[in-house]
Amino acid sequence: MINIPQALTYDDVLLVPKKSTISSRSQVNTTTKISRNLGLKIPLVSANMDTVTESQMAIAMALSGGLGVIHRFCDVTRQAREVARVKRKQNIVIDHPFTVSPEENLAAVKAKIIEHNCKSFLVSDRENNLLGILTNRDIKFVKDEQTLVRDMMTAKEKLITARDGISPEAAKELLTKHKIEKLPLVDENFKIKGLITAADFLNHFNNNQAAKDNKGRLLVGAAIGVRGDYMERVDALVKAEVDLLVLDIAHGHSEIAIKAIKEIKTKYPQMELVGGNVATREGAEDLIQAGVDAIKVGIGSGSICTTRTTTGFGVPQLTAIMNASQSCRKHNIPLIADSGIRKPADIVKALAAGADTVMIGGQFAGTDEAPGPIITYQGRRYKISRGMASLTAALSRPDAKENLSQITPEGIEARVPYRGPVQNIIDLFMGGLRSGMSYGNAQTIAELREHAEFIQITAAGSIESGSHDNELL
Ligand code: XMP
Repeated sequence: MINIPQALTYDDVLLVPKKSTISSRSQVNTTTKISRNLGLKIPLVSANMDTVTESQMAIAMALSGGLGVIHRFCDVTRQAREVARVKRKQNIVIDHPFTVSPEENLAAVKAKIIEHNCKSFLVSDRENNLLGILTNRDIKFVKDEQTLVRDMMTAKEKLITARDGISPEAAKELLTKHKIEKLPLVDENFKIKGLITAADFLNHFNNNQAAKDNKGRLLVGAAIGVRGDYMERVDALVKAEVDLLVLDIAHGHSEIAIKAIKEIKTKYPQMELVGGNVATREGAEDLIQAGVDAIKVGIGSGSICTTRTTTGFGVPQLTAIMNASQSCRKHNIPLIADSGIRKPADIVKALAAGADTVMIGGQFAGTDEAPGPIITYQGRRYKISRGMASLTAALSRPDAKENLSQITPEGIEARVPYRGPVQNIIDLFMGGLRSGMSYGNAQTIAELREHAEFIQITAAGSIESGSHDNELL
């Protein structure tokens, strides 16, 4: 008889409580690694779906200590701009501040304000010499759209500036002493070398929770494909200073993915690259051998996925994590458990099974920071979540096939309840994780894994696990 092994997912198991030395949930340490060289303060990552992660979500995730991965279902320029928005959100020093020329008029400035989502500009000549600054205050009461920048700006003679390389302490002193919002940085010839803003500065020193790079900027990831002009996308994202590239293909254990990994790593050996999606030990092993810095696990377990019902392939997520983690542990490569997270306990189980972070789509899609409007249906508020292999997603791609019969969807589009700011969900998930760590006597995520003892439960045990024998209010 053919022996078919059993595979399990989150709801099939529970973790056995351990004698705990942890007296308070706040004691536990949730720091982790998303990839070989990139650390996070919390193990939550928002999915690279066009109904989940653009710059607004990525900023919120990084401010909370996690990370957002910007989706790739837009042209290269737009995706790179979304990355740049995150990188500019919070800096100690903005290396390349936006500039305007003194000869531009108010109408042109207003267009730039919208384009860059930025309210103040340094004024420079063609040689990048600092001539002045133009802030919101300078233009607030100007009516004539033809007014030139040079007639509205605060000229350089009136500006407080500093030399590039100024220490954070000295910059803080200047900002405080002169009560200024912006401090342009210049070289000895008054050429622009950067900009420090008071808001970024305070954010940087007041928010120790955020996931930041070594320049104090928020971390951000971006998804890439493996076909067509994907190297052009990689080039643009690297130029926008993305921190992590995420290979976004449904069946990552494939020759085409391995070829792409080698090509990207040859051109950008320092760039952190995530490979996936896989669901097996062999899949993880092959992508690690090809050079990736993290493995993303999950085939068909997503809230909007139909891969398993369309193709018959997939591995229930807990078993997939356990299998792939055998290769990841051997090589010390972090594992991202992607999809299928419905409640806080699923995160605890994913990490205990061998994941270092979890990627979440549907649970974040209903939040304010996810792209798309709030819709009302039968008096309740919703947002849209859609699979990136769904019919509507396929049709809205720049390279959409005209012939509908050529499209075989492996995802659906759905409405999800509107859930307010994403921070609400992050707090709920992190509260569950911290509690779970105390049940597992785990000071760290590594200890949660070391101490984990899973038991498989029955249908009766599953019913007992939820609230029961009550009428919900
Ligand atoms: P959750 O469960 O968090 O899962 O919503 C998000 C993950 O689902 C994957 N994804 C898809 N899988 N067809 C699939 O089979 C699709 O159309 C699709 N779109 C997204 C993806 O891994 C994401 O992170």
